[in-house]
Amino acid sequence: MANPIRVSASALIIRDEKLLLIKFNDLSGVHYNLPGGGVDAGESLVAAVARECREEACAEVDVRDLVLSWQYVPELEDFKYGTTQKLGLIFKADLKPGCEPRLPENPDKAQVGVEWVPLKEISEKGTDFPLLPQIQSALETTLSENKNIHFLERSSPMEWSEYFKKFKDRPPRPLLLNSLKSMKPKEKTALELGSGPGRDALHLLQEGWKLTVVEPETSGIEMIQKELPPHQAENFSVIASTFEDLKELPQVDFIYASFSLPFCKPEAFPKFWSLVEKSFKPEAYFAGNFFGPQDEWVQRGNTTGHSEEQVRELFKDFNILSWHEMNERGPTAAGIVKHWHVFTVLAQKKS
Ligand SMILES: C[S@@+](CC[C@H](N)C(=O)[O-])C[C@H]1O[C@@H](n2cnc3c(N)ncnc32)[C@H](O)[C@@H]1O
Repeated sequence: MANPIRVSASALIIRDEKLLLIKFNDLSGVHYNLPGGGVDAGESLVAAVARECREEACAEVDVRDLVLSWQYVPELEDFKYGTTQKLGLIFKADLKPGCEPRLPENPDKAQVGVEWVPLKEISEKGTDFPLLPQIQSALETTLSENKNIHFLERSSPMEWSEYFKKFKDRPPRPLLLNSLKSMKPKEKTALELGSGPGRDALHLLQEGWKLTVVEPETSGIEMIQKELPPHQAENFSVIASTFEDLKELPQVDFIYASFSLPFCKPEAFPKFWSLVEKSFKPEAYFAGNFFGPQDEWVQRGNTTGHSEEQVRELFKDFNILSWHEMNERGPTAAGIVKHWHVFTVLAQKKS
């Protein structure tokens, strides 16, 4: 027998003490619900929330923490709301900048509105629907105590090719721009470890650097090659390899590794780093990030973490020019929230 339980995922979008609700008018009269609905087979919960917000409220959202769950067991409620058992998961979500929710042009037959309802009034809006009165007090507690339920998604936040598509037009990272301002390299040869969609690689080339990238994903390399002006082609080379499989690296004046080193498997990191060490010319620079031990992905065993002492040990033959530690919750590329613990380092090898 097919699994008879339907999973539904909804968004809790709050602005100015008001909650975004979808208004329906059907056989049971006027009632309201959170933007949300059934999760499709093969669809992630986060993707389902984002899709439902788009379909029901023309709203583009970043899906955050899981904050509440609910169930409907028909047998326990006299089959009041149908015969299908349901599990509901409610995620906090933020509207993307500039997005104003509205009724779609072709809404569902029963949908008649999209409304911002003051938090204090939401229980009154649920007269024909079971969920809202019940969640009001739960919501109040959740919001006042800022209690979030940890929601675990698969290890990689998204497929790299999806990540590359999402960030293919982003500007060069501040870490790169600030590092370029601070450095006085002897020559302009660089190595980028994990170049992703290539925005920083293209910037380095544009700034006159001779660049080698290490990148295992063909889709990322293709994005760079597509945009590479012909006159810069001779300054660009690719090592299409994972960090784990690297055999050798060129000697350079600058090694740049933005959010890539933690993806080297922990057991392979020491051998990989000994290759990286050999790649620094005297007085060469390094700019990049390491994940700390409190990072959620490190704690789950998905990425490589280094303590502050371990990172400082990697750079014992360097002068540290800038050091920044981030240790806080924040969104991932996929839009979910995780705990980030990141050391960002700019360092110069001693002569
Ligand atoms: C989070 S992205 C960062 C991309 C880019 N540097 C940026 O700042 O946007 C991680 C990059 O590391 C690459 N990567 C992941 N695992 C890797 C591995 N084991 N060896 C080499 N590169 C890897 C991915 O393909 C991707 O380009």
